[in-house]
Amino acid sequence: MLKRFSISLEDDLLEKFDTFIRNRTYNNRSEAIRDLIRNSFLKDEWEADMEVIGTITLVYDHHQYQLQEKITTLQHDFHHQIISTTHIHVSHDNCLEVIIVRSKAKKVKGLADSLAALRGVKNCSLSISSANN
Ligand code: NI
Repeated sequence: MLKRFSISLEDDLLEKFDTFIRNRTYNNRSEAIRDLIRNSFLKDEWEADMEVIGTITLVYDHHQYQLQEKITTLQHDFHHQIISTTHIHVSHDNCLEVIIVRSKAKKVKGLADSLAALRGVKNCSLSISSANN
């Protein structure tokens, strides 16, 4: 059920907020506020080390010496946290791997950071959502 409440804001802050809404293509202020509130709770959960579900997306050069092996070894170290891995051969040199994870935020972030630090990894991005609601 949706509940209604009013918010008081300074003129210039409201102006900035409306620009923000336009740039993000939100339909209305309520939608944007809801999203911002959810995101701030998500950040808290991250800090509080709550259960999250998410993806780690990697782009890497598979010709890099021992990189493939290091990526596999790391994933075996986190086999309790990894739900599935999809590998796509993007081009002659590049591979893309999407790793679906479910665990404590800190663990997931640790895996993403370790993968990002490997030589030959061109891009590593982590996306998470709360697993509890
Ligand atoms: Ni490949």
